[in-house]
Amino acid sequence: MNFEFTEEQEMIRQAARDFAKKLEADVIERDTNAQYPTAHVKEMSELGFMGMMVPPEYGGGGMDTVSYVLAIEEISKIDSSLAVIMSVNNSLVCYGIEKFGTEEQKQKYLPDLASGAKIGAFLLSEPEAGSDATHQRTTAEDKGDHYLINGTKNWITNGDSGSVYLVIAQTHPEKKHHGINALIVDKDTPGISVGPHEDKMGMRSSDTHSVMFTDVKVPKENRIGDDGFGFKFAMKTLEGGRIGIASQALGIAAGAYERALQYSKERKAFGKLISEHQSIAFRLADMYVKIENARNLCLKAAWLKDQGKPYGLASAMAKQYSADMAMEVTTDAVQIHGGYGYVKEYHVERLMREAKLTQIYEGTSEVQKIVISRSILRD
Ligand code: CAA
Repeated sequence: MNFEFTEEQEMIRQAARDFAKKLEADVIERDTNAQYPTAHVKEMSELGFMGMMVPPEYGGGGMDTVSYVLAIEEISKIDSSLAVIMSVNNSLVCYGIEKFGTEEQKQKYLPDLASGAKIGAFLLSEPEAGSDATHQRTTAEDKGDHYLINGTKNWITNGDSGSVYLVIAQTHPEKKHHGINALIVDKDTPGISVGPHEDKMGMRSSDTHSVMFTDVKVPKENRIGDDGFGFKFAMKTLEGGRIGIASQALGIAAGAYERALQYSKERKAFGKLISEHQSIAFRLADMYVKIENARNLCLKAAWLKDQGKPYGLASAMAKQYSADMAMEVTTDAVQIHGGYGYVKEYHVERLMREAKLTQIYEGTSEVQKIVISRSILRD
């Protein structure tokens, strides 16, 4: 077993760290104003992060999932809004098309998605189908040479900034989840409207919207996989997406920990540095161990994916543990900062708000426990 990173992986981590440092200057302002990071997304695209795992023949960086984990962790330490924009584009949209799309679909969509010229969004959640993803109400009626989509999708990351949608919709209700399809839909297709920006608690700089479909005509060739493959497509794609969100949670926790560590070496109370109080030192030790556990789970899931081995259980474990851990560690970081932790200037209250979302999207912690428990009970 080798726990060392390759030279290339180290270089990617350093590039992500350097990029993330630049995000710090306006991260509080963007969070306060819920302002989309247009300029930063452009730079992230130029650096190749938007399509870092896409094979070079489709315009991507051809990097492995381990590198992806390292990059997402570094960016999330400073600004996880950037990380989720990148994660959805990479591991849900690009991966979904690359792994399951036709050659024509790959050639048509991947180069623009990989370069960041276009951004992708993954449209699975609905007002009444969040965790219960089999009960899709959005319909994709089969009209011979095309599908007609009607319905509403909710909580869509990149919902407005994105222009390539992967839409999951029901075609054959009598077949339940075996009747669901996944369709690539260009956002400028007539009949699509985007709801208002959701005023979120955290990750306020990424755009989250509802998307409404009224008689949206989508050619048959935009379907991914065979008729009825859509639910399996969503589940398989989310296996990789969850590595991205687990790494994001890891980065949020690590960012909060680094700030708390630094603060503990500067702040004095009762005549000495607070790091010299055992209650603080032990708290930092616990945070450090939890973060390292999460990192190992994320890297193991990534490594399994890179080796072509099954990774659904590993990614669910990484996602559940990292997200719950991030909530604990960011709460501890606020506590170590005392009153300062509760104001924006010290960043940790923002990181705590961001951690909460990692327990919710791309499958709640409870959903991950469904996946984990079914897997261990079956084996
Ligand atoms: N790979 C392949 N097939 C899978 C699978 C997987 N990982 N997981 C399930 N399936 C298959 C099952 O084998 C089953 O197939 P058969 O009927 O042919 O046997 C079928 O899918 C249904 O599976 P289940 O019976 O397990 O379904 P369930 O209703 O019990 O639900 C669930 C399982 C794990 C809860 C699932 O619904 C789920 O993951 N829900 C959460 C959805 C989610 O993560 N949403 C996030 C939205 S995306 C997002 O957040 C992006 C963003 O913007 C940030």
